[in-house]
Parts: sequence; structure tokens; C-alpha cells
Amino acid sequence: MNKQITRRKFLGAAGAAAFVSAVGSTATAADKPLKILGIACSPRKGMTTAKAVQIALDAAKAVNPRIQVGLIDLGGLNIAGHSAKPPADDFDAILPKLKDPALGGLIIGSPSYFRGMSALCKAFIERCGPLREPRTLADKPVGVVALGSFRNGGQELVIQQIQTAMLCFGMVPVGGNPPAYQGATVQSTKDEISADEVGLDTAKKLGARVAEVALRLAAK
Ligand SMILES: Cc1cc2nc3c(=O)[nH]c(=O)nc-3n(C[C@H](O)[C@H](O)[C@H](O)COP(=O)(O)O)c2cc1C
Repeated sequence: MNKQITRRKFLGAAGAAAFVSAVGSTATAADKPLKILGIACSPRKGMTTAKAVQIALDAAKAVNPRIQVGLIDLGGLNIAGHSAKPPADDFDAILPKLKDPALGGLIIGSPSYFRGMSALCKAFIERCGPLREPRTLADKPVGVVALGSFRNGGQELVIQQIQTAMLCFGMVPVGGNPPAYQGATVQSTKDEISADEVGLDTAKKLGARVAEVALRLAAK
């Protein structure tokens, strides 16, 4: 009897060792890094939109050690909207990052320009056309950060516009954790957002929610 158990134990251990050497690692899908990319769509590099998106990304990273974050600041980049033959421009370097299989979700930030997303944001989304088929972004969460110099300067409209556009990619629009239901709505005053405690809290709650949903969807 004792001999049998010893033999069984030995065979089990040998089998496990063979499996580990066959696959090269014991890491499962649940251990793999999951990337959340932030896209800041103000033409002004490093300004309030980029800062607010970074705050959301930091909150996303804090959710789980698997979450990795990165910011793509479109400020100063040359990205033309869709045309029959889009020119070679700065979008070409961004596209591979959006195709990364480890991408778990997006946080898109835009200033409110006359109650709408910036032209740069629209151009960026239009150029994402190749990601619709094959459905590279499908079933991944997208959250939106909107900036305005007024308290009610159209931030919720900007969020709605971007969420609606990303539905065309099969993305799953999410708001923030309560009470930031719609997403991050931030007010800038003289190019500063540090005084907008309520708005910054919505950015943190959005980042956390995007990460939580990304982890859940990646587990399926
Ligand atoms: C062309 C233009 C239109 C704007 N329209 C609005 C607006 O409708 N509502 C609002 O609250 N702020 C508006 N703003 C202010 C910006 O949304 C705000 O300054 C934002 O923080 C800019 O983002 P940035 O600092 O990342 O460039 C406008 C600014 C510009 C340049």
C-alpha cells in the first residue's frame, strides 16, 4: 500500500515536471500582465487632459499587480483624420500598441471643445478603423475622461460621444465606480486641475472601474 502511494506520488511529480518543461513556465492566463492604455487627446502636450488621464491610470494600476499602464499623449503629434489614402503620420507608431494582445482596456481623455470631443480625438478614433475588422478592441472596457474649463462645459456630452464611437469597435463602455457613473468629468481652472477634488475623484473612480472590468473580461 505504502509502496503504491509512493509510486503514485512519484508519477504525479514526474508528470508535473514534464508539463512544466513542455510549456516552459507554470504561469497561467490569470498571472499575465494586462495593459491599460491611456490616450490623451488634447493638442497641448502634458496639459490638463494628460494629467487627468494619468491620474485615472494610476488608480487603475493600484487595483491589481497584473495591471500595467501606459500613457500615449497625442499632444504635438500629427494625426490626420480618415481619408481615402491616409498619409504616413504619427498614427503609424501608435497602431501596434493598440494591437498588443496584452491590451486589456483603454482610457480616452479629451478636452471639451464647444461641447464636443477635440478634432484630434476624432481623428485618432477615425484612424483606428483597421481595429474594427478583425475585432482587435472588442470585449475590452473603455472609459472616458473629459476636461472643461467650466463646471458643466459639456464633459458628459464628450464622454457620450467617445463611448458611442467606441461601440463601433465592440468595446464595452464603462463609467466610474459610484458616484462617478458617467466617467471622469474634470474642471480645469487656468490650466490647473489640482483644485477640482470632485473631478479628480471621478478620474480615480473611472481608472479603478476600467481595471476591474478588464480583469473580469480577461478571465472569460
Ligand atoms: C476651441 C476651444 C473650445 C473650448 N470649448 C469649451 C467648452 O465648450 N466647454 C468647456 O468647459 N471648456 C471649453 N474649452 C476649454 C478646454 O476644454 C479646457 O481648457 C481644457 O482643460 C483643455 O485641455 P488641455 O489643458 O489638456 O489642453 C475650450 C477650449 C478651446 C481651445
